[in-house]
Amino acid sequence: MDDFPTYPSGLRLGGRRVVVVGGGHVAQRRVPQLIAVGADVHVVSPDVTPAIEGMVGSGEVTWHRRGFQDADLDEAWYVIAATDDRTVNEQVSASAEVRRVFCVRSDDATRASAWTPAVGRHAGVTVAVLGQREPQRSAAVRDEILEGLREGTIVARHQRDRSPGVVLVGGGPGDPELMTVAGRKALVEADVVVADRLAPRELLGELPADVELIDVAKLPRGRSAQQEEINRVIVARALEGKRVVRFKGGDSFVFGRGFEEVIACREAGVPVTVVPGLSSPIAVPGVAGIPVTHRGVAHEFTVVSGHLPPGHPESQVNWTAIGSMSGTVVLMMAVENAPAIATALVAGGRSPATPVAVVSEGTMPGERTVLATLGTLAARLAEEAVRPPAIIVVGEVVAVAHPAHFA
Ligand SMILES: C[S@@+](CC[C@H](N)C(=O)[O-])C[C@H]1O[C@@H](n2cnc3c(N)ncnc32)[C@H](O)[C@@H]1O
Repeated sequence: MDDFPTYPSGLRLGGRRVVVVGGGHVAQRRVPQLIAVGADVHVVSPDVTPAIEGMVGSGEVTWHRRGFQDADLDEAWYVIAATDDRTVNEQVSASAEVRRVFCVRSDDATRASAWTPAVGRHAGVTVAVLGQREPQRSAAVRDEILEGLREGTIVARHQRDRSPGVVLVGGGPGDPELMTVAGRKALVEADVVVADRLAPRELLGELPADVELIDVAKLPRGRSAQQEEINRVIVARALEGKRVVRFKGGDSFVFGRGFEEVIACREAGVPVTVVPGLSSPIAVPGVAGIPVTHRGVAHEFTVVSGHLPPGHPESQVNWTAIGSMSGTVVLMMAVENAPAIATALVAGGRSPATPVAVVSEGTMPGERTVLATLGTLAARLAEEAVRPPAIIVVGEVVAVAHPAHFA
């Protein structure tokens, strides 16, 4: 069977036929949970443990005192193959597959179409944890969560104090795992989330249905018009008494126009706080195995926006000065203008042999690193059809990270 992650779902088994094949200790552990959710439980096994026999005696379970037959799965919604005989378990899962009944296997999870999570309940909430076939880890995570709920260190959203205002949250470079704890907490507390394209979007799927989600990509186009509309929306919602999270990729103050939003809030008398995020010029090379500084190699790093080409009348960047530096140069928003920037850096004094790494979609599933030198950068970007978002790292640190390539 494939090795995709599981799709979690809460099964409502009340009154529905569930077949447990096997009557030993595994069945004994599963059957009470099935009874507790009101399932119509049928145990198929020549023998059962005394505990199961007791449940049969009290009428909570139907016992079919024999070996498994394919027809046992007629009318079944769910089946657990829990015998100590692999051949029988195999027959159960094969029969379940034909009938499209989800089947749990106690002996071999890779042959199962469903896995049993580690489950616990607290105050009307069911906590179910599925590890990638790591039952002990799942149980440990479940226990931590239950303990947190019991002790109040995990507080459900409706119990929180949510004062109105705006929180600027930096979501990190893309992988939701790289978002800060404070950022996650702010999201949980939000009434309104105003999200950028590069914010870790998977986290938006976790927002409760009553949270208003405003997708910035859908606001009016044009740099100024869009920013004005964002400022207007966050201030207006906060003045309505809402708690607003302005959710961006990386850090809000690194080419994120975050401070314009801070100013807009202050001018409107709206309380505003900032949760910094891992910024892509450091985090993306880091995850790709490239340090932006290294002792004896680079004692400085310069982060530059390449969204305007060298020589553009609005550009405030002195590319000649940057070309004369010896440390690491990290270019952002620079894929389109990279050929012209490489030429300008070489004109400023940087060697055409200077190593370059282009990391696109850093920390995300499509992450890719393309290696080049300043002299070959234009050709390599074209050959590899590199698309934004990408971070371009220029300097000897790239050779430190990839010594074989630059030997
Ligand atoms: C408008 S800037 C926002 C930067 C963001 N505030 C930060 O601190 O990372 C967008 C640029 O950041 C870089 N970037 C952001 N996330 C990235 C990622 N996951 N992989 C590569 N580059 C990324 C790219 O250069 C992209 O063009």
